[in-house]
Amino acid sequence: MLSRNKKKGLLAGRRALSSQNKQKVLKPLRARQLIRRFHVLLKNKTQLTKRLEKIWKCKIESDPARYIKEHNPDLFERFEQARIHTLETLLVNKPPPSTVINTNSFQLDRICEELGRIEGEIEKRGGLEVYQAASVQGQSSQRGGDSSKKLVEWLKDLGYNKDNAVALEIGCLNSRNLVSTCGLFSKVVKIDLHSQEPDILEQDFMERPLPKSAAEQFDLISCSLVVNFVPDPHLRGQMMHRITQFLKPHSQKPYLFFVLPLPCIVNSRYFDENRLSELMGALGFKCIRHYQSHKLAYYLYQWERRVSEKLNFPKKELHKGTKRNNFCIVMS
Ligand SMILES: C[S@@+](CC[C@H](N)C(=O)[O-])C[C@H]1O[C@@H](n2cnc3c(N)ncnc32)[C@H](O)[C@@H]1O
Repeated sequence: MLSRNKKKGLLAGRRALSSQNKQKVLKPLRARQLIRRFHVLLKNKTQLTKRLEKIWKCKIESDPARYIKEHNPDLFERFEQARIHTLETLLVNKPPPSTVINTNSFQLDRICEELGRIEGEIEKRGGLEVYQAASVQGQSSQRGGDSSKKLVEWLKDLGYNKDNAVALEIGCLNSRNLVSTCGLFSKVVKIDLHSQEPDILEQDFMERPLPKSAAEQFDLISCSLVVNFVPDPHLRGQMMHRITQFLKPHSQKPYLFFVLPLPCIVNSRYFDENRLSELMGALGFKCIRHYQSHKLAYYLYQWERRVSEKLNFPKKELHKGTKRNNFCIVMS
């Protein structure tokens, strides 16, 4: 095992390295590269954690490192060695590769090493805070961002004017974005996995307690660029289904504002506009506004309160082609 003192020293180094990476303003290309790389790292981490759960027949609630440490100190040492080696050797100024690894054949020691490498790279690139800062920057109005601009434009166009309307924003990076400041809602509950502001509740939507009454439900839910962030296609389906449970059934048809990166819709092997529309239809959503920019696909749905009994949307190849991505939402 690494000695405590050594670890302390490295941890101190880790902090120093991280703060070196925290640039205030990233160049747009660099921000995009970083966002893409974090997506890959988080996706790989989820897949490896699942492999671990399968092998150990357990449920790892949050941090795989903590679980490995508690259950197998030898494997944790391998994890730590890989993490520290990555911290010490990774060159972050080179454009990152974006390879999603195939974890199916990995044995335990390889899984733990790979998890250590991922953790090291996340730290070396400045941690999730830097990923979020890059995303906020992508949102900033100078870059034409803040997808909720589209939402507010649509709601105003629809003459939305409901007394005491409450909204939930899932995956909120900025408490002053337009959905919060437009004045159409008496309250906007903002949540994120990694809150950056006191006004944003740090919460996993998948763990948010289910509403016990209409008072805990919402007239509108905004879920912009979140589902693509969820690394597993089944979890994405569960997230879409769970959203329906947070919409007010007695509201005059509550809304869902939904945004995906355009390649999820136009360049996936397993997903496209038709599939999205079938899936949303089965969940009881009717699309009332739709817009595509050159990077994003925006949708405004109204929920009609009819979730189909049979939700059967497996992963199925819809389009052939080696240059396609693997984005998919699975529901069954
Ligand atoms: C790419 S950012 C998008 C932020 C913003 N909504 C936008 O449109 O630019 C995705 C955010 O979703 C958050 N997120 C992903 N899964 C989540 C979950 N299960 N619960 C809450 N937030 C989640 C992440 O922490 C991240 O900050």
